[in-house]
Amino acid sequence: MSLITSLDFPFPVPPKQVSTALKQGLMERCARKLKENNAVLIAHYYTDPDLQELAENTGGFVGDSLEMAKFGARHSADTLVIAGVKFMGETSKMLSPDKRVIMPTLEATCSLDIGCPEKEFREFIEQNSDRTVVVYANTSAAVKAMADWVITSSIAVDVVKHLDSLGEKILWAPDKHLGRYIQKQTGADMLLWDGHCIVHDEFKHLALRNAKQLYPNAKVLVHPESPDNVIQLADHVGSTSQLIEAARNSSAEQMIVATDKGIFYKMQQAAPEKELIIAPTTGEGATCKSCAQCPWMKMNQLNNLEMVFEQEKNEIFVSQELISKALKPLKRMVDFKK
Ligand code: 13P
Ligand code: SF4
Repeated sequence: MSLITSLDFPFPVPPKQVSTALKQGLMERCARKLKENNAVLIAHYYTDPDLQELAENTGGFVGDSLEMAKFGARHSADTLVIAGVKFMGETSKMLSPDKRVIMPTLEATCSLDIGCPEKEFREFIEQNSDRTVVVYANTSAAVKAMADWVITSSIAVDVVKHLDSLGEKILWAPDKHLGRYIQKQTGADMLLWDGHCIVHDEFKHLALRNAKQLYPNAKVLVHPESPDNVIQLADHVGSTSQLIEAARNSSAEQMIVATDKGIFYKMQQAAPEKELIIAPTTGEGATCKSCAQCPWMKMNQLNNLEMVFEQEKNEIFVSQELISKALKPLKRMVDFKK
């Protein structure tokens, strides 16, 4: 079932960069607003380094999608400020319904979320009602509400192994590359939805092979949303946090990294002496589409964060009905122990 191609995605206009002088003032004002509002900033690794730095300097958090959800759920702040894409804000709201959850922008979506609409997904489930429904966190609250399990890439293989050991057949959505990777790792019976991430889908096998020749001692780190033939060239495959750990622990001096470039901020902290090289994508300069940067993650900027506080906007709301349905598969994700 192929619903959408990357050409169909309405890419947002890239945000304007602020000067260093303005940036310092924005940082200070945002830090003050967070404190005055008893709010904590939780940022994904793919967001602009300015936001990651602000989160670090204000007692907030930078992490992968599972860690972000867990951090928000156990933090005592009244307000969670989620710098990431919309599904991350919705997940935080569903796990902490009594907290105010706001985001620098509500326009930041995800191609996996867009590519898995509620109505079509419901029909897919109805046609395959003998299967356990496992969905990736990168989906809407409405899609999660139809699932038996919600998972992220950091626990995907282990959860599916567990379900396979119970003899369950799986319906997987939405990322076909991640689904195929899990299927290969576990041997589980999985029926895959045909979705993809427009950023990871652009990493290229041949160009990566050439890059490996150029840097023969480099290790290749790949996020499993990448195509199968790119994963095959990897020395390490894993979620964003797992890739950072691989960079920290590797004895190699160079890393070729196939995931969003935003991860370099934290990866370089974890491996300060290593050279990080972005894996090649389709096209270059004006001809590349995402250029290893999620256009929606980059919509989170210091200036729209400041405006959220000033104008009291961009709050996430999820209906009680959806929360009560999605909470069970979400809790399974949060409570899952490898
Ligand atoms: P992680 O769960 O590894 O943080 O990935 C989220 C994501 O959106 C990857 O594109
Ligand atoms: Fe979605 Fe891909 Fe962006 Fe991650 S990088 S949020 S999967 S579009």
